[in-house]
Amino acid sequence: MYQNSRPIGVIDSGVGGLTVVRQIQRLLPGEDIIFFGDSANCPYGNRSADEIYALALRMLRYLESQEVKCVAIACNTISSLVDRLRGECPFSLVSIIESGADYVVREKLPSVGLIGTEFTVSAGVYDARIHAGAPNCLVVSKGSADLASLIDRGDFNQSVINEEITAQVDVILSRAPVKDLVLACTHFPIVADNFRACFPQLRLIDPAEQQALSVKNLLVYRSLTNPQTRGKLKICTSGGLEVYLTVSKLLGLHGPESCQVVSLEN
Ligand code: DGL
Repeated sequence: MYQNSRPIGVIDSGVGGLTVVRQIQRLLPGEDIIFFGDSANCPYGNRSADEIYALALRMLRYLESQEVKCVAIACNTISSLVDRLRGECPFSLVSIIESGADYVVREKLPSVGLIGTEFTVSAGVYDARIHAGAPNCLVVSKGSADLASLIDRGDFNQSVINEEITAQVDVILSRAPVKDLVLACTHFPIVADNFRACFPQLRLIDPAEQQALSVKNLLVYRSLTNPQTRGKLKICTSGGLEVYLTVSKLLGLHGPESCQVVSLEN
């Protein structure tokens, strides 16, 4: 296949990665995208590093068979393991954590709150990357064990979601009066309005915007952008299709032109 016409791959533990697809479509409208959401195994955030690594590798192997030109690791939880995964792939991997953390450094924020999965928070890769560029930035992180799974199940019960957001963000604010909050799990920007309603004083940072910019910079640098006007979106999932169609609409995505269940081999 002509190099520039190859699709961009995007992976996530579930439907949350569509928030990254939204930003890639905005910045790179001509690109074909193959998105894989591993909903059959979601949540990843309560699993061990070895389990997450093995599950992520299966998605990357699938995308390799689809001849992608690069992969955006939309999932913050998987991105915590990006250094291990990079050695396994013949294409570039763009980590959402690296893009998000570099933004915090560039903005010179004195302090920042961060809400992610329990794995992302305990792995500490965000903190390490922020502190490498901004040693004095105070990073106050809190994991949620439940929010991503509620959203991935398509359970948009407003009061349950608001209760979980309030419980976790209150912990962050009790530690430091931060003004900025990184939504360090791809599922969370889907309920950004709930975060805004519960904490109107906080500025929300969605690292997906920065990750899309990193993907664009990579493709431009390597002269790999697709010259067509409008790309196609193919959604693959190991779980049910319904939530993917609901969230695609909610986020205002172009497409999907196809949405299918794909079972991955071990
Ligand atoms: N979407 C994933 C992330 O960005 C987490 C959801 C999960 O626990 O699987 O970290």
